[in-house]
Amino acid sequence: MLGSGFIGRFYAESIHGQRSRDRVVAIYARREESAKKFAADYGCSIWDTDMEAVIAHPDVNMVCVALPNNLHEAAVMLCAKHKKNVVTTKPLGRNGEEALRMMKAVEESGIFGGYLEDLCYTPKFLKALESVKSGSLGRILWAKSREAHPGPHSNWFWDKEQAGGGCILDLGCHCIEISRNFIGKDVRPVEVMCWAATQVKPIEAEDHAIALVKYENGAIGQFEVSWAFRGGMDLRDEVMGTEGTIWINNFLRTGFEMYTTGKGTDYVAEKAESNSGWLFPVGDEVNDLGYNHMFTDMFFAAEEGREAAETFYDGYVVNAVIDACYKSAQTKQWEPINLPVWRGQEGFTAATTLVEYDADFYLIKEELTHDGRHKVILKDKKSGEIIEKDLKK
Ligand SMILES: NC(=O)c1ccc[n+]([C@@H]2O[C@H](COP(=O)([O-])OP(=O)(O)OC[C@H]3O[C@@H](n4cnc5c(N)ncnc54)[C@H](O)[C@@H]3O)[C@@H](O)[C@H]2O)c1
Repeated sequence: MLGSGFIGRFYAESIHGQRSRDRVVAIYARREESAKKFAADYGCSIWDTDMEAVIAHPDVNMVCVALPNNLHEAAVMLCAKHKKNVVTTKPLGRNGEEALRMMKAVEESGIFGGYLEDLCYTPKFLKALESVKSGSLGRILWAKSREAHPGPHSNWFWDKEQAGGGCILDLGCHCIEISRNFIGKDVRPVEVMCWAATQVKPIEAEDHAIALVKYENGAIGQFEVSWAFRGGMDLRDEVMGTEGTIWINNFLRTGFEMYTTGKGTDYVAEKAESNSGWLFPVGDEVNDLGYNHMFTDMFFAAEEGREAAETFYDGYVVNAVIDACYKSAQTKQWEPINLPVWRGQEGFTAATTLVEYDADFYLIKEELTHDGRHKVILKDKKSGEIIEKDLKK
């Protein structure tokens, strides 16, 4: 494990969870006391303040990068150099260029590279994606994802140089990959329109943003992100298709509510702003946030010599979309997404919206009304006239 902070600990809890056979054997941290404390807490036999020494250690067969964003690339390059499989937290890079270099280094060295996009592994997301893939929602038209919380927990996130951006990079990366999964990873994201602003915090980067990501088949991805949302961590997705709809709420107010005066209450849930009054705890945070399913996929994929569901390529596509978001927020225009490497399909056209009713009409809508009518609204194929027809009185 590289990094003994917030996410390094979440990952270790997940990897060591239940009766898992997987172990974190080594820890790199910047400071000796942090490395020693993490090693003691998780039973690591190796700790060091020298990153390369940990990566190169013969007992290490997979490296987990849980470092600030500006250190991801250097860590991945060392993994490629020492031929160690690597899984990297989000965002993959601070921008598309960094991410592309990391992807190429991993692929050229032949090591396994997994992208730790946990929100594409939550139990609700996995079930929703299965339904979308089986066609329960028909053709996906719109996939929206929202992540909003009161802001990150460490200083480096708030520094644009180290973090690489604000809430678009930190939270939008999750949302973009969620929408991309629902719309279809082989459908090219072509352009974005983004609004971003620094509304609350004294920082250079944005603390609020909304964006539309247009896909080649006409589908729209949408994200809403904030580092100044009050009241906890809001993680919600909505998918709309020609045959159905899915709404997912992953975290806040999902059916577990508790009141306390605050006596005896410590940590409640990630980014919960209070530990007294009415609270919304999370039953099994590590699982509900997708970490368990994510590491299971990563480790099986590495062992079986296949790709994980989320790869360095996916991380690079997400970074490229984010680059276009930053550009659009400045120019206030739709901006193209620059993908020098694209492995999906080419040349999608917007799918037809015409539904046959009979030889003469297309169906617009069928409806049962409150006065007992069963009617259809039809479009005449030749004249273009739109008519209503009662099927029964
Ligand atoms: N849901 C998620 O997937 C998720 C959630 C939180 C964070 N993250 C990602 O994990 C990475 C680490 O974030 P975090 O929340 O654990 O941060 P953190 O500040 O809590 O921990 C970072 C750790 O990196 C190590 N470190 C080494 N060199 C450092 C340096 N020069 N400056 C600062 N720390 C240094 C330290 O051990 C430190 O504890 C980031 O890329 C972040 O985007 C992912």
